[in-house]
Amino acid sequence: MSEDQNPSGDGKGQTREQHKHSAEIGSRNPYQNPDGGVTTTGHVWDDDLADFNNQPPRWWMLGLAASAIWVVVYWLYYPSVPVPTSNTFFKGVGGWSAIKEMEADKGEVDAVRGKYEAKLKDMTPAAILADNDLTEYVKRSGKVLFGDNCAPCHGTNGVGTKDKEGLFAPVLNDDDWLYGGKIDDIYTTISGGRQGMMVAHKDSLSETQIIDVAKYVKALSEGKGDSEPAGKKVFMESDCTACHGADAKGVQAMGSANLTDTIWRFDGSLEGIKHTVAYGVNSGDPKARVAIMPNFKEAGKLSDADIKKLAVYVYKFGGGQADAPAAPAAPAQAAAEAAAPAVAAK
Ligand code: HEC
Ligand code: HEC
Repeated sequence: MSEDQNPSGDGKGQTREQHKHSAEIGSRNPYQNPDGGVTTTGHVWDDDLADFNNQPPRWWMLGLAASAIWVVVYWLYYPSVPVPTSNTFFKGVGGWSAIKEMEADKGEVDAVRGKYEAKLKDMTPAAILADNDLTEYVKRSGKVLFGDNCAPCHGTNGVGTKDKEGLFAPVLNDDDWLYGGKIDDIYTTISGGRQGMMVAHKDSLSETQIIDVAKYVKALSEGKGDSEPAGKKVFMESDCTACHGADAKGVQAMGSANLTDTIWRFDGSLEGIKHTVAYGVNSGDPKARVAIMPNFKEAGKLSDADIKKLAVYVYKFGGGQADAPAAPAAPAQAAAEAAAPAVAAK
Protein backbone atom coordinates (compact mmCIF):
# COMPACT_ATOMS: atom_id res chain seq x y z
CA MET A 1 0.00 0.00 0.00
CA SER A 2 2.76 2.42 -0.88
CA GLU A 3 0.37 5.15 -2.03
CA ASP A 4 -1.06 5.36 1.51
CA GLN A 5 2.18 6.07 3.17
CA ASN A 6 3.02 9.53 4.36
CA PRO A 7 5.93 10.78 2.25
CA SER A 8 6.99 13.31 4.85
CA GLY A 9 7.46 10.44 7.31
CA ASP A 10 6.04 12.55 10.15
CA GLY A 11 3.87 9.67 11.41
CA LYS A 12 0.60 11.40 10.44
CA GLY A 13 -0.36 8.97 7.72
CA GLN A 14 -3.85 8.47 9.03
CA THR A 15 -4.65 12.15 9.07
CA ARG A 16 -3.66 12.42 5.47
CA GLU A 17 -5.78 9.40 4.61
CA GLN A 18 -8.86 10.84 6.26
CA HIS A 19 -8.43 14.10 4.44
CA LYS A 20 -8.01 12.39 1.12
CA HIS A 21 -11.07 10.22 1.89
CA SER A 22 -13.44 13.12 2.47
CA ALA A 23 -12.12 15.04 -0.53
CA GLU A 24 -12.62 12.31 -3.02
CA ILE A 25 -15.67 10.54 -1.72
CA GLY A 26 -18.62 10.59 -4.04
CA SER A 27 -16.65 10.35 -7.23
CA ARG A 28 -14.84 7.27 -8.30
CA ASN A 29 -13.75 5.23 -5.33
CA PRO A 30 -10.03 5.75 -5.32
CA TYR A 31 -9.36 3.12 -2.76
CA GLN A 32 -9.42 0.19 -5.04
CA ASN A 33 -7.20 -2.41 -3.51
CA PRO A 34 -4.25 -2.54 -5.86
CA ASP A 35 -4.20 -6.29 -5.39
CA GLY A 36 -7.55 -6.24 -7.20
CA GLY A 37 -11.22 -6.87 -6.23
CA VAL A 38 -12.37 -5.47 -2.92
CA THR A 39 -12.64 -1.74 -2.29
CA THR A 40 -11.72 -0.34 1.11
CA THR A 41 -12.92 2.72 3.04
CA GLY A 42 -9.48 4.15 2.66
CA HIS A 43 -8.64 4.03 6.34
CA VAL A 44 -5.40 2.32 7.00
CA TRP A 45 -3.86 1.46 10.35
CA ASP A 46 -0.59 -0.10 11.25
CA ASP A 47 0.60 0.21 7.64
CA ASP A 48 -1.64 -2.41 6.08
CA LEU A 49 -4.87 -2.84 8.08
CA ALA A 50 -7.81 -1.55 5.99
CA ASP A 51 -11.65 -1.62 6.20
CA PHE A 52 -13.47 -3.39 3.38
CA ASN A 53 -16.17 -1.25 1.90
CA ASN A 54 -18.86 -3.82 1.10
CA GLN A 55 -22.61 -3.10 0.82
CA PRO A 56 -24.63 -4.92 3.47
CA PRO A 57 -26.66 -7.73 1.92
CA ARG A 58 -30.14 -6.93 0.63
CA TRP A 59 -31.96 -9.16 3.15
CA TRP A 60 -30.22 -7.31 5.92
CA MET A 61 -31.29 -3.89 4.61
CA LEU A 62 -34.89 -5.14 4.27
CA GLY A 63 -34.74 -6.45 7.81
CA LEU A 64 -33.52 -3.10 9.06
CA ALA A 65 -36.37 -1.27 7.32
CA ALA A 66 -38.93 -3.79 8.59
CA SER A 67 -37.77 -3.46 12.16
CA ALA A 68 -37.98 0.33 11.93
CA ILE A 69 -41.59 0.01 10.82
CA TRP A 70 -42.23 -2.59 13.56
CA VAL A 71 -40.99 -0.18 16.21
CA VAL A 72 -43.57 2.42 15.13
CA VAL A 73 -46.42 -0.12 15.01
CA TYR A 74 -45.46 -1.54 18.40
CA TRP A 75 -45.12 1.93 19.86
CA LEU A 76 -48.63 2.86 18.75
CA TYR A 77 -50.28 -0.45 19.64
CA TYR A 78 -49.02 -0.78 23.22
CA PRO A 79 -48.86 1.81 25.96
CA SER A 80 -45.37 3.15 25.35
CA VAL A 81 -44.19 6.55 26.40
CA PRO A 82 -46.29 7.99 29.22
CA VAL A 83 -47.36 11.03 27.20
CA PRO A 84 -50.11 12.78 29.12
CA THR A 85 -53.38 13.02 27.14
CA SER A 86 -56.27 14.57 29.08
CA ASN A 87 -55.59 13.50 32.66
CA THR A 88 -54.17 10.15 31.75
CA PHE A 89 -51.52 8.82 29.42
CA PHE A 90 -51.50 7.35 25.96
CA LYS A 91 -52.69 3.79 26.40
CA GLY A 92 -51.96 2.47 22.96
CA VAL A 93 -54.52 1.72 20.28
CA GLY A 94 -54.57 -2.00 21.11
CA GLY A 95 -56.11 -1.52 24.55
CA TRP A 96 -53.58 -3.92 26.09
CA SER A 97 -52.86 -3.75 29.80
CA ALA A 98 -50.88 -5.96 32.15
CA ILE A 99 -53.92 -6.32 34.41
CA LYS A 100 -56.07 -7.58 31.53
CA GLU A 101 -53.41 -10.08 30.54
CA MET A 102 -53.04 -11.26 34.12
CA GLU A 103 -56.81 -11.66 34.45
CA ALA A 104 -57.00 -13.66 31.26
CA ASP A 105 -54.25 -15.97 32.54
CA LYS A 106 -55.94 -16.26 35.90
CA GLY A 107 -59.19 -17.10 34.14
CA GLU A 108 -57.48 -20.03 32.48
CA VAL A 109 -56.11 -21.30 35.78
CA ASP A 110 -59.45 -20.83 37.55
CA ALA A 111 -61.23 -22.77 34.84
CA VAL A 112 -58.99 -25.75 35.53
CA ARG A 113 -59.14 -25.38 39.32
CA GLY A 114 -62.79 -24.45 39.41
CA LYS A 115 -64.08 -27.93 38.78
CA TYR A 116 -62.01 -29.36 41.62
CA GLU A 117 -62.79 -26.51 43.99
CA ALA A 118 -66.53 -26.77 43.35
CA LYS A 119 -66.40 -30.48 43.99
CA LEU A 120 -64.44 -30.44 47.23
CA LYS A 121 -66.34 -27.51 48.71
CA ASP A 122 -69.19 -29.75 49.86
CA MET A 123 -67.16 -32.83 50.72
CA THR A 124 -65.79 -33.89 54.08
CA PRO A 125 -62.01 -34.08 54.47
CA ALA A 126 -62.32 -37.87 54.65
CA ALA A 127 -64.24 -37.97 51.38
CA ILE A 128 -61.66 -35.79 49.68
CA LEU A 129 -58.95 -38.11 50.91
CA ALA A 130 -60.84 -41.10 49.49
CA ASP A 131 -60.89 -39.48 46.03
CA ASN A 132 -57.56 -39.98 44.26
CA ASP A 133 -58.06 -37.19 41.76
CA LEU A 134 -58.92 -34.63 44.39
CA THR A 135 -56.14 -35.76 46.69
CA GLU A 136 -53.68 -35.34 43.85
CA TYR A 137 -55.06 -31.86 43.17
CA VAL A 138 -54.82 -30.90 46.84
CA LYS A 139 -51.26 -32.17 47.11
CA ARG A 140 -50.30 -29.74 44.36
CA SER A 141 -52.45 -26.74 45.17
CA GLY A 142 -52.00 -27.01 48.94
CA LYS A 143 -48.33 -26.11 48.72
CA VAL A 144 -48.92 -22.38 48.45
CA LEU A 145 -51.61 -22.43 51.13
CA PHE A 146 -49.31 -24.28 53.49
CA GLY A 147 -46.33 -22.12 52.59
CA ASP A 148 -48.22 -18.90 53.29
CA ASN A 149 -50.00 -19.91 56.48
CA CYS A 150 -48.25 -22.78 58.15
CA ALA A 151 -44.62 -23.06 57.04
CA PRO A 152 -43.45 -20.06 59.12
CA CYS A 153 -44.11 -22.17 62.24
CA HIS A 154 -44.09 -25.75 60.98
CA GLY A 155 -41.37 -25.49 58.36
CA THR A 156 -41.57 -26.30 54.66
CA ASN A 157 -43.21 -29.70 54.21
CA GLY A 158 -43.89 -29.82 57.94
CA VAL A 159 -40.34 -30.55 59.06
CA GLY A 160 -40.88 -28.40 62.14
CA THR A 161 -39.03 -25.30 63.30
CA LYS A 162 -36.82 -24.99 66.33
CA ASP A 163 -36.03 -22.30 68.83
CA LYS A 164 -33.78 -22.45 71.86
CA GLU A 165 -36.48 -24.19 73.90
CA GLY A 166 -36.81 -27.04 71.45
CA LEU A 167 -39.36 -27.40 68.70
CA PHE A 168 -41.24 -24.17 68.20
CA ALA A 169 -44.04 -26.03 66.45
CA PRO A 170 -44.40 -29.78 66.06
CA VAL A 171 -43.10 -31.77 63.14
CA LEU A 172 -46.05 -32.68 60.92
CA ASN A 173 -44.45 -35.20 58.61
CA ASP A 174 -43.89 -37.91 61.19
CA ASP A 175 -46.42 -40.25 62.76
CA ASP A 176 -46.10 -38.80 66.24
CA TRP A 177 -49.25 -36.80 66.96
CA LEU A 178 -50.19 -34.77 70.00
CA TYR A 179 -53.80 -34.45 68.90
CA GLY A 180 -54.15 -37.42 66.59
CA GLY A 181 -53.22 -38.11 63.00
CA LYS A 182 -56.61 -39.16 61.63
CA ILE A 183 -57.94 -36.91 58.96
CA ASP A 184 -60.72 -35.53 61.16
CA ASP A 185 -58.31 -34.89 64.06
CA ILE A 186 -56.08 -32.88 61.78
CA TYR A 187 -59.06 -30.97 60.40
CA THR A 188 -60.21 -30.14 63.95
CA THR A 189 -56.71 -28.98 64.91
CA ILE A 190 -56.46 -26.61 61.97
CA SER A 191 -59.94 -25.18 62.16
CA GLY A 192 -60.08 -24.71 65.91
CA GLY A 193 -56.46 -24.20 66.89
CA ARG A 194 -54.80 -25.95 69.83
CA GLN A 195 -53.18 -24.90 73.06
CA GLY A 196 -52.02 -27.81 75.15
CA MET A 197 -51.99 -26.86 78.82
CA MET A 198 -49.76 -28.29 81.47
CA VAL A 199 -49.86 -26.72 84.90
CA ALA A 200 -46.69 -25.47 86.60
CA HIS A 201 -45.44 -27.71 89.41
CA LYS A 202 -42.93 -25.42 91.07
CA ASP A 203 -45.32 -24.84 93.96
CA SER A 204 -47.01 -28.23 94.20
CA LEU A 205 -43.83 -30.32 94.10
CA SER A 206 -40.58 -29.92 96.01
CA GLU A 207 -37.31 -29.29 94.22
CA THR A 208 -36.25 -32.89 94.91
CA GLN A 209 -39.54 -34.28 93.61
CA ILE A 210 -39.14 -32.28 90.42
CA ILE A 211 -35.62 -33.62 89.92
CA ASP A 212 -36.77 -37.18 90.62
CA VAL A 213 -39.74 -37.06 88.29
CA ALA A 214 -37.63 -35.44 85.57
CA LYS A 215 -35.11 -38.28 85.89
CA TYR A 216 -37.97 -40.77 85.65
CA VAL A 217 -39.37 -39.16 82.51
CA LYS A 218 -35.94 -39.15 80.91
CA ALA A 219 -35.44 -42.81 81.83
CA LEU A 220 -38.88 -43.61 80.39
CA SER A 221 -37.88 -42.27 76.99
CA GLU A 222 -34.79 -44.47 77.16
CA GLY A 223 -36.94 -47.49 77.94
CA LYS A 224 -35.73 -47.94 81.54
CA GLY A 225 -38.33 -46.23 83.69
CA ASP A 226 -37.98 -48.81 86.42
CA SER A 227 -34.48 -47.60 87.17
CA GLU A 228 -35.98 -44.48 88.79
CA PRO A 229 -38.37 -45.70 91.47
CA ALA A 230 -38.39 -42.41 93.41
CA GLY A 231 -39.41 -40.47 90.31
CA LYS A 232 -41.94 -43.10 89.33
CA LYS A 233 -43.59 -42.68 92.72
CA VAL A 234 -43.91 -38.93 92.20
CA PHE A 235 -45.30 -39.48 88.72
CA MET A 236 -47.91 -41.97 89.90
CA GLU A 237 -48.93 -40.07 93.00
CA SER A 238 -49.06 -36.49 91.74
CA ASP A 239 -51.24 -35.22 88.91
CA CYS A 240 -49.05 -36.39 86.01
CA THR A 241 -51.13 -39.46 85.26
CA ALA A 242 -54.32 -37.42 85.07
CA CYS A 243 -53.08 -35.84 81.85
CA HIS A 244 -50.37 -38.15 80.53
CA GLY A 245 -52.07 -41.41 81.51
CA ALA A 246 -50.73 -44.07 83.88
CA ASP A 247 -48.71 -45.51 80.99
CA ALA A 248 -47.33 -41.97 80.32
CA LYS A 249 -48.19 -42.34 76.64
CA GLY A 250 -50.23 -39.17 76.50
CA VAL A 251 -53.90 -38.46 75.92
CA GLN A 252 -54.75 -37.08 72.52
CA ALA A 253 -57.85 -35.28 73.70
CA MET A 254 -55.57 -33.08 75.80
CA GLY A 255 -52.59 -33.02 73.49
CA SER A 256 -50.46 -34.24 76.38
CA ALA A 257 -47.23 -35.54 75.03
CA ASN A 258 -46.24 -39.18 74.89
CA LEU A 259 -43.42 -39.31 77.41
CA THR A 260 -42.25 -42.82 76.57
CA ASP A 261 -40.89 -42.11 73.10
CA THR A 262 -37.68 -40.39 72.08
CA ILE A 263 -39.45 -37.45 70.46
CA TRP A 264 -39.13 -34.28 72.46
CA ARG A 265 -41.24 -31.28 71.78
CA PHE A 266 -39.30 -29.12 74.21
CA ASP A 267 -35.76 -29.43 75.49
CA GLY A 268 -35.36 -33.12 76.37
CA SER A 269 -32.27 -32.78 78.56
CA LEU A 270 -32.68 -33.29 82.31
CA GLU A 271 -32.53 -29.52 82.81
CA GLY A 272 -35.07 -29.01 80.05
CA ILE A 273 -37.49 -31.55 81.50
CA LYS A 274 -37.13 -29.99 84.97
CA HIS A 275 -38.02 -26.65 83.44
CA THR A 276 -41.13 -28.04 81.69
CA VAL A 277 -42.30 -29.74 84.90
CA ALA A 278 -41.61 -26.70 87.11
CA TYR A 279 -43.18 -24.03 84.89
CA GLY A 280 -45.60 -26.00 82.74
CA VAL A 281 -46.84 -25.36 79.22
CA ASN A 282 -49.14 -22.42 78.43
CA SER A 283 -49.68 -22.32 82.18
CA GLY A 284 -49.66 -18.58 82.57
CA ASP A 285 -46.33 -18.69 84.39
CA PRO A 286 -43.92 -16.19 82.79
CA LYS A 287 -41.33 -18.96 82.39
CA ALA A 288 -43.80 -21.48 80.97
CA ARG A 289 -43.23 -23.15 77.63
CA VAL A 290 -45.42 -21.61 74.98
CA ALA A 291 -47.29 -23.73 72.46
CA ILE A 292 -50.03 -22.00 70.53
CA MET A 293 -51.52 -23.29 67.34
CA PRO A 294 -53.66 -20.39 66.08
CA ASN A 295 -57.37 -20.77 65.41
CA PHE A 296 -57.57 -20.25 61.68
CA LYS A 297 -61.33 -20.38 61.38
CA GLU A 298 -61.93 -17.73 64.01
CA ALA A 299 -59.23 -15.50 62.56
CA GLY A 300 -61.14 -15.68 59.27
CA LYS A 301 -57.86 -16.23 57.50
CA LEU A 302 -58.87 -19.43 55.76
CA SER A 303 -62.12 -20.61 54.26
CA ASP A 304 -63.53 -23.96 55.28
CA ALA A 305 -62.51 -25.36 51.88
CA ASP A 306 -58.94 -24.17 52.49
CA ILE A 307 -58.87 -25.84 55.89
CA LYS A 308 -60.13 -29.10 54.38
CA LYS A 309 -57.47 -28.92 51.72
CA LEU A 310 -54.80 -28.29 54.35
CA ALA A 311 -55.99 -31.21 56.44
CA VAL A 312 -55.58 -33.51 53.44
CA TYR A 313 -52.28 -31.86 52.55
CA VAL A 314 -50.87 -32.38 56.06
CA TYR A 315 -52.23 -35.94 56.19
CA LYS A 316 -50.39 -36.65 52.97
CA PHE A 317 -47.04 -35.59 54.41
CA GLY A 318 -46.95 -39.25 55.29
CA GLY A 319 -47.87 -39.30 58.96
CA GLY A 320 -51.61 -39.45 58.44
CA GLN A 321 -53.31 -42.34 60.17
CA ALA A 322 -56.12 -44.33 58.61
CA ASP A 323 -59.36 -44.55 60.51
CA ALA A 324 -59.69 -47.82 62.39
CA PRO A 325 -61.55 -50.26 60.13
CA ALA A 326 -64.53 -50.87 62.44
CA ALA A 327 -66.56 -48.23 64.25
CA PRO A 328 -64.56 -45.01 63.75
CA ALA A 329 -64.63 -45.44 59.96
CA ALA A 330 -68.42 -45.38 59.84
CA PRO A 331 -69.00 -41.66 60.47
CA ALA A 332 -66.46 -40.69 57.83
CA GLN A 333 -68.01 -43.13 55.38
CA ALA A 334 -71.51 -41.84 56.09
CA ALA A 335 -70.30 -38.29 55.69
CA ALA A 336 -68.71 -39.17 52.38
CA GLU A 337 -71.97 -40.62 51.18
CA ALA A 338 -73.92 -37.65 52.46
CA ALA A 339 -71.59 -35.42 50.47
CA ALA A 340 -71.89 -37.43 47.29
CA PRO A 341 -75.39 -36.27 46.18
CA ALA A 342 -74.35 -32.65 46.69
CA VAL A 343 -71.45 -33.23 44.36
CA ALA A 344 -73.52 -35.07 41.81
CA ALA A 345 -76.01 -32.21 41.81
CA LYS A 346 -73.36 -29.80 40.50
C1 HEC B 1 -47.90 -19.40 65.11
C2 HEC B 1 -47.33 -20.67 64.79
C3 HEC B 1 -48.20 -21.68 64.05
C4 HEC B 1 -48.84 -21.55 62.85
C5 HEC B 1 -48.87 -20.34 61.93
C6 HEC B 1 -49.45 -22.82 62.56
N1 HEC B 1 -49.22 -23.68 63.59
FE1 HEC B 1 -49.87 -25.59 63.69
N2 HEC B 1 -49.14 -25.73 65.58
C7 HEC B 1 -48.41 -24.75 66.23
C8 HEC B 1 -48.12 -25.19 67.58
C9 HEC B 1 -47.32 -24.42 68.59
C10 HEC B 1 -48.71 -26.46 67.72
C11 HEC B 1 -48.71 -27.33 68.96
C12 HEC B 1 -49.83 -26.91 69.84
C13 HEC B 1 -49.76 -27.57 71.17
O1 HEC B 1 -48.70 -28.12 71.51
O2 HEC B 1 -50.76 -27.56 71.89
C14 HEC B 1 -49.33 -26.77 66.43
C15 HEC B 1 -49.99 -27.95 66.15
C16 HEC B 1 -50.45 -28.31 64.91
C17 HEC B 1 -50.98 -29.60 64.57
C18 HEC B 1 -51.15 -30.76 65.54
C19 HEC B 1 -49.92 -31.60 65.55
C20 HEC B 1 -50.07 -32.82 66.41
O3 HEC B 1 -49.02 -33.40 66.72
O4 HEC B 1 -51.19 -33.20 66.73
C21 HEC B 1 -51.31 -29.57 63.25
C22 HEC B 1 -51.93 -30.69 62.43
C23 HEC B 1 -51.00 -28.25 62.75
N3 HEC B 1 -50.46 -27.52 63.79
C24 HEC B 1 -51.20 -27.83 61.46
C25 HEC B 1 -51.05 -26.51 61.06
C26 HEC B 1 -51.46 -26.02 59.78
C27 HEC B 1 -52.05 -26.83 58.66
C28 HEC B 1 -51.18 -24.69 59.77
C29 HEC B 1 -51.47 -23.67 58.67
C30 HEC B 1 -52.85 -23.44 58.39
C31 HEC B 1 -50.59 -24.35 61.05
N4 HEC B 1 -50.53 -25.49 61.81
C32 HEC B 1 -50.16 -23.10 61.40
C33 HEC B 1 -48.02 -23.55 65.71
C34 HEC B 1 -48.46 -23.02 64.52
C1 HEC C 1 -53.09 -30.52 83.02
C2 HEC C 1 -52.53 -31.60 82.25
C3 HEC C 1 -51.09 -31.97 82.55
C4 HEC C 1 -50.52 -32.33 83.72
C5 HEC C 1 -51.15 -32.37 85.09
C6 HEC C 1 -49.15 -32.68 83.42
N1 HEC C 1 -48.89 -32.51 82.09
FE1 HEC C 1 -47.11 -32.73 81.19
N2 HEC C 1 -47.90 -32.02 79.48
C7 HEC C 1 -49.23 -31.73 79.28
C8 HEC C 1 -49.42 -31.30 77.92
C9 HEC C 1 -50.73 -30.88 77.28
C10 HEC C 1 -48.16 -31.36 77.31
C11 HEC C 1 -47.81 -31.09 75.85
C12 HEC C 1 -47.68 -29.66 75.59
C13 HEC C 1 -47.55 -29.39 74.10
O1 HEC C 1 -46.70 -29.98 73.44
O2 HEC C 1 -48.32 -28.57 73.65
C14 HEC C 1 -47.23 -31.79 78.33
C15 HEC C 1 -45.87 -31.94 78.13
C16 HEC C 1 -45.01 -32.48 79.05
C17 HEC C 1 -43.62 -32.65 78.82
C18 HEC C 1 -42.84 -32.26 77.59
C19 HEC C 1 -42.78 -33.35 76.57
C20 HEC C 1 -41.93 -32.97 75.36
O3 HEC C 1 -42.09 -33.66 74.34
O4 HEC C 1 -41.14 -32.04 75.41
C21 HEC C 1 -43.12 -33.28 79.92
C22 HEC C 1 -41.68 -33.70 80.17
C23 HEC C 1 -44.21 -33.45 80.83
N3 HEC C 1 -45.35 -32.96 80.27
C24 HEC C 1 -44.10 -34.06 82.08
C25 HEC C 1 -45.10 -34.02 83.03
C26 HEC C 1 -44.93 -34.48 84.39
C27 HEC C 1 -43.71 -35.14 84.93
C28 HEC C 1 -46.10 -34.20 85.02
C29 HEC C 1 -46.43 -34.43 86.48
C30 HEC C 1 -45.54 -33.80 87.40
C31 HEC C 1 -46.97 -33.59 84.07
N4 HEC C 1 -46.35 -33.49 82.88
C32 HEC C 1 -48.26 -33.15 84.36
C33 HEC C 1 -50.24 -31.80 80.21
C34 HEC C 1 -50.06 -32.08 81.54
